[in-house]
Amino acid sequence: MEKKFRRTMVTAALPYANGPVHIGHLAGVYVPADIYVRYLRLKGEDVVFVGGSDEHGVPITIKAKKEGVTPQDIVDRYHKIIKESFEGLGISFDVYSRTTSKIHAKTASDFFKKLYDKGEFVEKTTMQYYDEEAHQFLADRYIVGTCPHCGNTRAYGDQCEACGTSLNATDLIDPKSAITGNVPVLRETKHWYLPLDKWEPRLRQWILEEHKEWRPNVYGQCKSWLDLGLQPRAVSRDLDWGVPVPVEGAEGKVLYVWFDAPIGYISNTKELLPDDWEKYWKDKDSRIVHFIGKDNIVFHCIIFPAMLMAEGSYQLPDNVPANEFLNLEGDKISTSRNWAVWLNEYLEDLPGKQDVLRYVLTANAPETRDNDFTWKDFQARNNNELVAILGNFVNRTLVLTHKYFDGIVPACGELTDYDRASLNEFADVKATLEKYLDTFRFRDAQKEAMNLARIGNKYLADTEPWKLAKTDMARVATILNLSLQITANLAIAFEPFLPFMSKKLRTILGMHEFSWNALGSVDILSAGATIGQPELLFEKIGDEVVEAQVKKLVDMKRANALANFEPKPVAAPVAFDEFMKMDIRVGTVLECEKVKKADKLLKFRIDDGMGGRTIVSGIAKFYNPEDLVGKQVCFVANFEPRKLKGIESQGMILSAENADGSLVVIGPQGPVVPGCQVG
Ligand code: 2FM
Ligand code: ZN
Repeated sequence: MEKKFRRTMVTAALPYANGPVHIGHLAGVYVPADIYVRYLRLKGEDVVFVGGSDEHGVPITIKAKKEGVTPQDIVDRYHKIIKESFEGLGISFDVYSRTTSKIHAKTASDFFKKLYDKGEFVEKTTMQYYDEEAHQFLADRYIVGTCPHCGNTRAYGDQCEACGTSLNATDLIDPKSAITGNVPVLRETKHWYLPLDKWEPRLRQWILEEHKEWRPNVYGQCKSWLDLGLQPRAVSRDLDWGVPVPVEGAEGKVLYVWFDAPIGYISNTKELLPDDWEKYWKDKDSRIVHFIGKDNIVFHCIIFPAMLMAEGSYQLPDNVPANEFLNLEGDKISTSRNWAVWLNEYLEDLPGKQDVLRYVLTANAPETRDNDFTWKDFQARNNNELVAILGNFVNRTLVLTHKYFDGIVPACGELTDYDRASLNEFADVKATLEKYLDTFRFRDAQKEAMNLARIGNKYLADTEPWKLAKTDMARVATILNLSLQITANLAIAFEPFLPFMSKKLRTILGMHEFSWNALGSVDILSAGATIGQPELLFEKIGDEVVEAQVKKLVDMKRANALANFEPKPVAAPVAFDEFMKMDIRVGTVLECEKVKKADKLLKFRIDDGMGGRTIVSGIAKFYNPEDLVGKQVCFVANFEPRKLKGIESQGMILSAENADGSLVVIGPQGPVVPGCQVG
């Protein structure tokens, strides 16, 4: 039998305060968590929604060093941006705090101390990398090197981002300090380890036997970790940014960010409910649900639960509905490559369109596999679904009510068989929505809500009240009464998904009080009640809007590639005689055209001072042919002729490859007589 709970604690992963949040975070964590919490609140359940910024960890200190500011400056800046942008999107946290708060330092410190006093840690002295110039140990991302699994030369001491493997710093080939670039030395250091192996049997039983209902991706990841066998995990670091390790002899050491961050959920609950927080975390009839992305599964399903087991007085999470990843325009979202749609910028660029983003992210939620966000799809879902289905039905209903009944809800007369059949179609909308929402299937739930608007549209289209207005006003009254009831149902059903729209609609309909339990009913609005003036709920989004967003993305990626360019290593030396074999000349472009059926190639006719020659070059993506006519270019004159798409190319035009992969043709800085040699 299903267990009954009296209250629910919902947490959403604490985002690192070293950048704004992007649509990947939103689709994976915050929008689904918010839908779930709004749904529970609407049902009148006791729920607390906890969030906050994760303000410790090495990347924050690296960013601060790069900018020449303190880590506190960095987290102050981004905590504000993140918090405000969540509010802007209607993510309805009951508390959104931060892990640099005093209450958190104390909670995390006490938690560690309790485990320490209970003898739950193993102390180990190991050899770790140390930068002798910077005088510090190189924790996690302070060390870079080559990944032993995939050969990526920019792997970090804790993880290779190219192949996703988690690493130990000592696994890296050619390790270098990220601070000075020096080759580090190994030095002894002492740390505290949580023996995960001790908890393995209990974790196995709890997850693999008692939580078979978890999402297959979550269950599967846990199973593979458990099957590999758990090892003790270090929970401290040699760093000066974080919660100090509260034991003697631990100067210069702080709690590992992944030890203190999940405790942040508890600290933030304490901040919100100083007298009442404990029951949400410790009572047997409380339920804890963690919303996270898939990269956080091991921390929330294995490490944090092991910490809680070791502490002894807490409940374990009841479910961890982790999502897969969202891609952007077919490419992996990447903060370092600036390939992302940032929430704070979205809210500025597209004001008033919070619900559109929420809708699209839920429609494409990566619940069972990675999914893709494209601006074209964003536009299509807005125009074809929010405007054409939902907005259209609501608007027609409101306009007709004003036209025929002066904005007063008309009384419902006798129902026809067709009315009954239509009502039947949405009789079980509440049960279906609940089935999906209770099992974290938010995409399906939102589809079901939209289906209600489809039913409404079909009902209006089939009954055609505007044609009956001259002959049968009683029938028009019934049709509009039912359409208004469907509209009121939409305001309820969509509240968790589109809270801004729902509020606007409830205001128009005068629904001052509303409850989830009314869903499916056809007497939400009373006959005789006044309806406000119709307002458009959604408006069409034009091509220019989405094109501007795609351009912005491409421009950002390019700027980022240029800013982060690192020259390739210089090739092996070439002897003077060898170099002199190459005959480079200057020529003037006489003609230039695209080569048919070859989107990369341009065909040039060059005045080479020797009667002219034809050269084919692979730069078509970067130039309009007509812009090159009359320009002077450098070319290799003794390059062996070769055929490209059936054209003999008698040389090679020189170009530089820019950081973003684009090609720029090389030519003399002043006018030169065609045929002159370069050397
Ligand atoms: O992956 C991340 O962005 C982490 N900052 C999530 C932390 S979740 C929790 F444990 F605080
Ligand atoms: Zn790798």
